[in-house]
Amino acid sequence: MNISAILWPSDGSEPSYKALDAAIDLARKFKARIYALQVVHQVPTITGAGFAPVAIQGFDVPLYEQELMKTAEKELHQTVTEKVPDEIEVTARVKVGIPAETITDFARENNISMIVMATHGRTGISHFMLGSVAEKTIRQSSIPTLIIPVSEEEQD
Ligand SMILES: Nc1ncnc2c1ncn2[C@@H]1O[C@H](COP(=O)(O)OP(=O)(O)OP(=O)(O)O)[C@@H](O)[C@H]1O
Ligand SMILES: [Mg+2]
Repeated sequence: MNISAILWPSDGSEPSYKALDAAIDLARKFKARIYALQVVHQVPTITGAGFAPVAIQGFDVPLYEQELMKTAEKELHQTVTEKVPDEIEVTARVKVGIPAETITDFARENNISMIVMATHGRTGISHFMLGSVAEKTIRQSSIPTLIIPVSEEEQD
């Protein structure tokens, strides 16, 4: 198996940083590039037959998403600069969308060899075996995915 591109999806949580450590180890061993991807959840809209898109006066959805993206980009670049050693090549990206779908699409579009993510993220409810983004990504993606376990103590 040739591992040349590793996707690390980040939600800025401690569990996701544990997955980044694993991604760094693998990138070193396989001389792979790390793709760091943070998905800003899109603003929900009402869709379906009989529903018109709802416009709330004074609420500019694209502008709001752009602002969230800007903040996420700053945070992700800072994280990558701090945590990823210089000898490893990194591409950092922020996208707006539904997290698992966006992770899966990104992995396919960028010829990712392996996704490395944690069992949990920001919510971190350990009575669920897997967080919903982790679970959906495994179900939707045909790309090998390494799931890093996070113990209850580590989530606090
Ligand atoms: N918005 C996101 N963008 C990129 N990666 C994400 C995002 N949300 C979660 N992830 C990835 O998925 C992993 C598991 O997080 P997940 O969201 O599934 O668990 P959770 O936050 O504990 O539970 P839930 O979101 O279902 O309430 C994270 O460690 C991170 O790698
Ligand atoms: Mg989550």
